[in-house]
Amino acid sequence: MEKVKIFDTTLRDGEQTPRVNLNKEDKIMIAKQLEKLGVDIIEAGFPASSVGDFEGVRAVAQVVEKPIVCALSRLVKEDIQRAAEALKYAKHPRIHVFLATSDIHLKHKLKMTRQQVIDRTRELVSYAKTFVDDIQFSAEDATRTDKDYLCQVYKVAISSGATTINVPDTVGFIQPMEYYEFISYIKKNTKGIENVTISAHCHDDLGLATANALSGVMAGVRQIECTINGFGERAGNTALEEAVMAIDTRSDMYGISTNINTRQIYKTSKLVTSLTGVEIAPTKSVIGENCFLHESGIHQDGIIKNRSTYEIMDSSKIGIPKNDGLVLGKHSGRHAFKVFLEHNGFHFEDEKINEAFAEFKKLTDTKKYVTVEDITSLLTNGEVEKEN
Ligand code: KIV
Ligand code: ZN
Repeated sequence: MEKVKIFDTTLRDGEQTPRVNLNKEDKIMIAKQLEKLGVDIIEAGFPASSVGDFEGVRAVAQVVEKPIVCALSRLVKEDIQRAAEALKYAKHPRIHVFLATSDIHLKHKLKMTRQQVIDRTRELVSYAKTFVDDIQFSAEDATRTDKDYLCQVYKVAISSGATTINVPDTVGFIQPMEYYEFISYIKKNTKGIENVTISAHCHDDLGLATANALSGVMAGVRQIECTINGFGERAGNTALEEAVMAIDTRSDMYGISTNINTRQIYKTSKLVTSLTGVEIAPTKSVIGENCFLHESGIHQDGIIKNRSTYEIMDSSKIGIPKNDGLVLGKHSGRHAFKVFLEHNGFHFEDEKINEAFAEFKKLTDTKKYVTVEDITSLLTNGEVEKEN
């Protein structure tokens, strides 16, 4: 099956999560885990942004064997030199250069003309190419750029040596169908595009980062840029775990696969949570703590009979420790209550279970979250012994 490359930018865009700061040791730990996870490219940082980040990228480049190690750089000589220097010891180095192309950015931020952007792209992509072969070019704010002009910029980047062309939805503005059409247009109208990899870099301002990246894949994108837990600037980026599990679960639809060892996803997510100090929501897709828990009686009944009734993925495939999938609350039924007790080592006569179930239902109306301890204290009440 054809592959889509997974470009992990947890250590670069992910580190742009407000209030997150990863030191060299943190970056090494995460990079080693990303290698186990099987990502194809690790974007380790932005060396020109600080001495610490330069050191971080250099350290990652030294410890990682298999994945490409990528360093971000503005399209300016000094940044490119710093990136190349930080990547000196990488087995597979990539320099990722970017320059904004939308009129909004040209007018308000860069104060450059469209022609100046084209000239700089030609000159500095060629310059980056003198350091390494593997060059990624990103047109920042691509999705708010005039399409024909964007194709011209990409054509120049490719003829100057870029091997990956990234199409960032920098501000999380585009919609899935639109991104599909946008990528299709670029594919059709950019000279030389058939010789390079097209990449999607989507932000989640409208909650569409994963959907947009997957739409891109349908249109021919063969590299997805993503982060663990969906961390990143503002609302974050495409979440690696979401994009990978969507492709894995619906391979019938995408007809492609990734090199990711999905069983390492949960461990990687936990590591990133602990090193960044940023918790994820319990309802976070794929890895949130509620993803394999069922509260309503009807769902619990289905789960007890067969987990496929209400689960589309096997939790162990994501590396999530197996549980019985039951969480007791006010919507839970007697059947699930009984199974829950048995899983916790309690075996009672039906009559006792009925009594306890009635008590439990009363409790759920007064307490937001009923714990295992609440239930066992309800039951034991000094009378019943737990069977081991
Ligand atoms: O969002 C963005 O445009 C970026 C680029 C540097 C690729 O992060
Ligand atoms: Zn970004």
